[in-house]
Amino acid sequence: MPDPTTQAAACFHDERILKARQLIRETISEYREALTRPSPPVDENKLEYEVMLKHFGHLRGGALYYPFLGSGFGNGALVELADGSVKFDMITGIGVHVAGHSNPDLIDMLVQAAISDSVMQGNLQQNLESLKLCNEVVGVARESGSRIRHCFLSTSGATANENALKMMFQAKFPADRILSFENCFAGRTMALAQLTDRPKNRDGLPQNINVDYIPFYDHDDPTGSTERSLAALKKLLSRYPGRHAGMCIELIQGEGGYYSAPREFFLTLIDHLRDHDVPIFFDEVQTFGRTSRLFAFQDLELDEYADVVSIGKMSQVCATLFTEEFKPRPGLVSQTFTGATSAIYAARFIINEFREKNFLGPEGRTMQIHERFAKHLNKLQSKFKKSIHGPWGCGGMIAFSVFDGSPERTKEFLDKLFHAGVIAFPAGQHPTRVRMLPPLLVITDEQIQQVCEIIGDVLNELG
Ligand SMILES: Cc1ncc(COP(=O)(O)O)c(C=O)c1O
Repeated sequence: MPDPTTQAAACFHDERILKARQLIRETISEYREALTRPSPPVDENKLEYEVMLKHFGHLRGGALYYPFLGSGFGNGALVELADGSVKFDMITGIGVHVAGHSNPDLIDMLVQAAISDSVMQGNLQQNLESLKLCNEVVGVARESGSRIRHCFLSTSGATANENALKMMFQAKFPADRILSFENCFAGRTMALAQLTDRPKNRDGLPQNINVDYIPFYDHDDPTGSTERSLAALKKLLSRYPGRHAGMCIELIQGEGGYYSAPREFFLTLIDHLRDHDVPIFFDEVQTFGRTSRLFAFQDLELDEYADVVSIGKMSQVCATLFTEEFKPRPGLVSQTFTGATSAIYAARFIINEFREKNFLGPEGRTMQIHERFAKHLNKLQSKFKKSIHGPWGCGGMIAFSVFDGSPERTKEFLDKLFHAGVIAFPAGQHPTRVRMLPPLLVITDEQIQQVCEIIGDVLNELG
């Protein structure tokens, strides 16, 4: 506990600070009220906005996916752009802004972070909040029986995964191979570009790790696909005995297109991996906070098999969690930054909201949100039979496909949807799916309906 005699405790609880925080909260709440529904850009902003977008594309060396430059303001599920337009944000920076835009409670946390002494936390010097965060994350990870003991913070999902790979390779030295599923995504570092099952992500890069892929589950052929996956695993383990440092598993494939699989499928493979002493690495960068439990491995009751786990996106700060056997030797992992001070405060706030406010559990808000979306999308499916398929995904990960599922038609749909006031994003290649990662902590049932109505309007227009 902090020493109540520190200047920090005295300053942060000074009446003037408390009053300033209250004023900020009230002011933000007041201005938020003006944003109630999607609206088009303000005419006089249009030209300058176009110029800014072009310039930004030039500076970053490639155009943005959407003409999106935020104003820095919003109201929950609604985000305001710098051209004055307002949109429903159903992708939230690919799963990051789970508390929505301009959330007064979250902003209050960010103000507290802003008045603490430094912008960034790092491995050399970390404030109390980092200790509290690590403690809470490990506590949640162990809640239903996992052996996770440690939490190492980092600034991106890719760094969390890279650290995970290093820990596994070191623990299993001289193993030099890694297993994963076909269609997986793991990040964009040199090693993770190899692990990710997408040739274009490693175009021009030298191969630096050996990856063996196993086919994923097929809902249309549960028994056959499980048998095929197990047969592929057996073959690889006997072809390369003792050479695999681990298997990287996305329990719901994210970038791949929101493909899920039942517990039995994973268990069949995990049992075999265990027999061959191959560690299990759950990549929860996208799934963390998106199922009925904070970790998807808990949702699927696979707690006891988690050797290494990574989290990211909605947790704001990313982390590699691991059991005693994967503790890295000195020198293996470290970075200047563990996260921005504000991100660490935000992470604690978000995790706490999920736990305290009825979001978790089979009947929790997260699952209700999924059902709501599914209900509306199913209705659209019966209306526009050939134009929309699905829905798929689980909990706070929702996907559907449009028309023939080709990347071109999907992009056309997404662009129209963007201009109609809803931001979504593609996932997967063949077929390409439309996916949504809504701001779970704030989206209302009425807004879910409005989003789906706009989807219907765009299908109608393009149909
Ligand atoms: C499953 C998974 N792992 C890793 C990553 C990489 O995370 P980041 O983009 O934060 O580096 C992602 C990002 O989409 C992901 O979905």
